[in-house]
Amino acid sequence: MKKIAVFASGSGSNFQVIAEQFDVKFIFSDHRDAFVLERADNLGVPAYAFELKEFDNKAAYEQAIVDLLDQHQIDLVCLAGYMKIVGPTLLSAYEGRIINIHPAYLPEFPGAHGIQDAWEAGVDQSGVTIHWVDSGVDTGQIIKQVRVPRLAGDTIETFETRIHEHEYQLYPQVLVELGVEPKNP
Ligand code: GRF
Repeated sequence: MKKIAVFASGSGSNFQVIAEQFDVKFIFSDHRDAFVLERADNLGVPAYAFELKEFDNKAAYEQAIVDLLDQHQIDLVCLAGYMKIVGPTLLSAYEGRIINIHPAYLPEFPGAHGIQDAWEAGVDQSGVTIHWVDSGVDTGQIIKQVRVPRLAGDTIETFETRIHEHEYQLYPQVLVELGVEPKNP
């Protein structure tokens, strides 16, 4: 059975959806006060949180993450709103075993503001993408993506909500396709 861990920096709504459907070995957050940690507590998922600034450098911070992944024998790392670039220490240890969700149809609108950037560009459709993580920003090989329309009458809030709804469908689908067993198949 494939063991997964989820990394999130903030709210963790994608983590919540994943943890409701799959056995998540642990959640890691790079913010000790992230709301995702409350969600983990409510769901009974083990959580770890530490911050880059608590370490001498990013290599030491990422080595602590690698140690956690090794200790739990994690097969697949699921980034879901983890707002840091994966650096060489983590990547060299786990490349090919890290996926990320991005709230746009890559290669359109990479970066930290995919929804806002698509909205401001006035597109009539954007999307959601899940991809392998490489050393670039949202550049890794695409696993699966869906289009999400911008509808007449949308505000950025309704557009954003629609994108998130598609995220909550796509992440579980991809996990199943990658061989992660759901809790109640
Ligand atoms: C999601 O839109 C995800 O695609 C992006 O960050 C957001 C995280 O939201 N990378 P949440 O923390 O899962 O609620």
